[in-house]
Amino acid sequence: MSILELENVTKAFDGVLAVDKLSLGFDEAKITALIGPNGAGKTTIFNLICGLIRPDSGAISYRTKNITGLAPWHVAQQGIGRLFQDVRLFERLTVNDNILAAFKNQTGENAFLSVVVPWKVVREERSFLERALQLLEFVGLADKANDLAENLSYGQQKLLSIARLLALDADVLLIDEPTAGVNPTMVASLLEFIRRLAKEGKTIVVIEHNMNVVVEIADWVCFMNQGQVESFGLPNEVLGDPEVRAAYIGL
Ligand SMILES: Nc1ncnc2c1ncn2[C@@H]1O[C@H](COP(=O)(O)OP(=O)(O)OP(=O)(O)O)[C@@H](O)[C@H]1O
Ligand SMILES: [Mg+2]
Repeated sequence: MSILELENVTKAFDGVLAVDKLSLGFDEAKITALIGPNGAGKTTIFNLICGLIRPDSGAISYRTKNITGLAPWHVAQQGIGRLFQDVRLFERLTVNDNILAAFKNQTGENAFLSVVVPWKVVREERSFLERALQLLEFVGLADKANDLAENLSYGQQKLLSIARLLALDADVLLIDEPTAGVNPTMVASLLEFIRRLAKEGKTIVVIEHNMNVVVEIADWVCFMNQGQVESFGLPNEVLGDPEVRAAYIGL
């Protein structure tokens, strides 16, 4: 069942249609891969969903709630997390503090609460620490908790940024090119981790240029071209489509 839907969404930049009357839904607890040539409009879809840009027309809904045009923080608060291609961590903070910073954004930093119910904040701080450790264990970075984020490998930084989205309680994860620039051994664990997230109920959308990765993890594949959905279906169906094969030489 789709929990995140775009309906007839259009977005033009200086008269050029980046997304053209596009309708598309993402199934709960499934991995959908967005594929297509450069400039097809894939990243624009993510930018539209997470509120960085507004559609010119059309609607975006999440769990039947209309989220069209909401500010990015508001979309994030609904449970939609975006992972950028450049990982955007606090490089000079430790791995653990990167997670704690995500929690702090929620309640601990609430000055009003810390004066009125200090014990609640103390209790929260402790449970934040426990949860941070759980999350780091979940992504396999517990032994790096006290390392500076900048000292992690690129693949580990991606895992850390996913853990941070989980700290923010995201139910939907939008991931732009998860494997780009990640070394092959790390790719395997990254993919396994993404699969595990879907099994646990997270809805995942990945933009991916590597078709081996797509075949390996996607439940659904959406092939976009010139701002439109050209083909949508099971990985083998879509990757067998002659138009898709033409776009990806070597398939
Ligand atoms: N902020 C922007 N301002 C102007 N044009 C933009 C902007 N963002 C995207 N575009 C244009 O919209 C079109 C779609 O771009 P988009 O980045 O969504 O493609 P993509 O499918 O993610 O491509 P790639 O695989 O290269 O990342 C392109 O023609 C791009 O130049
Ligand atoms: Mg892109």
